Amino acid sequence: MKRFAQTLLIAIALFPGAQALAEATPIEVRKTNGCGCCLSWMNHLEENGFAPTGRDMFGDLLVRFKLDNGVPQRMVSCHTAVVDGYVIEGHVPTSDIRRLLEERPDAVGLAVPGMPYGSPGMGPEEDREAYDVFLIHKDGSTDIYSSYPEGQAK
Ligand code: CU
Ligand code: CU
Repeated sequence: MKRFAQTLLIAIALFPGAQALAEATPIEVRKTNGCGCCLSWMNHLEENGFAPTGRDMFGDLLVRFKLDNGVPQRMVSCHTAVVDGYVIEGHVPTSDIRRLLEERPDAVGLAVPGMPYGSPGMGPEEDREAYDVFLIHKDGSTDIYSSYPEGQAK
C-alpha cells in the first residue's frame, strides 16, 4: 500500500492527467463467494483508478439482482458492478467504463456476456478470444460499444 502511494505521487508529479488517479472511483461489485475471476477483475479495477468493494450474494439472489437492475438474460456474466448509477456486467475493461462515465448515455450500462478468455481478469490479453462490450439500453436492447480482436499469440 505504501509503495502504491509512492508510485501514485510520482505519477501525479510526472503527468498532470494522473491527478484523476488520486481520487479513485468507488464501484460496488456483487459476486458469489469464492469467485476467483471476480477478484481478478477487481484487481484490474484497482490498478486503473477504481476503488472496488466486493459484496457476496447467493447465486439466485445475484441473478435476481442482475435482472432487477436491467441486465437482460443474454448479457449475464459472473459479477455485477454498480458505478455512478450504471450497471457493469462481467469482465468489462476499465477503459470502456471510463468512456461510459464521460459520455453518460441514457442507458443501463455495459456488459461483456459470458466470460471471454483474455478479457480483464480472465487470462492474458495476448491469448484472448475476440469479444464485444455491449451497451445495454433501458428497453433491454443492446448495441456494440467496443470490440476487442483476437490476441496476437493466437
Ligand atoms: Cu468471471
Ligand atoms: Cu466475476
